[in-house]
Amino acid sequence: MPRVFVTQAIDPAGLAVLRDAGLDVAEHRGERPIGRGPLLAAVKGCAGVIPMPTDRIDDAVLATAGLRVVAHHAVGYDNIDLEAAKRRGVIVTNTPGVLTAATADLTLALMLAAARRLVEADQLMRAGAFAGWRPLLLRGLALDGARLGIVGLGRIGRAVARRAAAFGLQTVHCSRSDKPDAGIERVDLETLLATSDIVSLHCPLTAETRHLIDAAALARMKPGAILINTARGPVVDEAALVEALESGHIAAAGLDVFEDEPRAHPGLRALPQAVLAPHIGSATVAARRQMALKAARNMVAALAGDTPPDRIA
Ligand code: NAP
Ligand code: GLV
Repeated sequence: MPRVFVTQAIDPAGLAVLRDAGLDVAEHRGERPIGRGPLLAAVKGCAGVIPMPTDRIDDAVLATAGLRVVAHHAVGYDNIDLEAAKRRGVIVTNTPGVLTAATADLTLALMLAAARRLVEADQLMRAGAFAGWRPLLLRGLALDGARLGIVGLGRIGRAVARRAAAFGLQTVHCSRSDKPDAGIERVDLETLLATSDIVSLHCPLTAETRHLIDAAALARMKPGAILINTARGPVVDEAALVEALESGHIAAAGLDVFEDEPRAHPGLRALPQAVLAPHIGSATVAARRQMALKAARNMVAALAGDTPPDRIA
């Protein structure tokens, strides 16, 4: 019976698919991600592994004797060495689409919270410091008529643009290729940064996008603009963002991902104009169930010798 290791507790529906297919399933369970040594040890003897974005699936893991399939429990696969997988003949899959709506919803939640200063408002109430309605209390950015710049108009970027339209935001995008079917104006990054009231990041983490938003990019953003990141932490230079927020050049940020997860820069934690979430973009019951099912079905298909639906290597 082929053995599959799942590196974190997942929705039971996914485990049921694996077991119904006759696979021997082992899981890591715990609040913390599995460590490097335990991961290497646990994968030994396995034909498949279902990893999380917290697991580095590099050549050392992929070299495990008998490992044939990595069915990622996420859409972003910057943590997996696809070249090494191809070289070693290990099949890799991911979970596109089923988490798009959930992640786009969280992006809008962060956008609204940052624009309308909800963390500051919440802190004020909890401190018992609300002295009464005042015209100048906690004024924020009006979304209606503001300009949204989306970096990476893919599945999630497009879903964000659709939601943003309902709030009256005017959207432009910057991606490597034109997307004429989207009906959204494409501009270069310089223009997007210089003209957007809100910049929202939806590109994958690659060599090209690492620190795409660095000190220089932040300086080019409009004074008082808002930065939202639900893509990957290292797309932003977090120390530079802290400086830009402290100086007031960037008015607020909404962040679901961090450069050195699970740690957030201490400067961010001290700033109420930074709305922080613990990488919960896809964390709805429905999305996490569909992700578990997709990962499991990809695994079962690949181990059976069929082409898995979401093969990326
Ligand atoms: P997707 O459909 O592949 O979209 C990514 C888009 O980024 C593509 O349209 C691509 O278009 C664009 N892109 C790639 N390189 C770029 C660059 N250098 N500059 C500008 N745009 C670039 O992926 P998705 O499903 O929307 O997911 C996007 C990312 O969101 C994932 O990779 C993952 O890291 C992140 N994510 C986070 C969470 C969370 O929990 N916070 C949940 C899901 C996903 P071109 O190829 O034309 O450039
Ligand atoms: C989560 O971050 C994902 O990429 O699915």
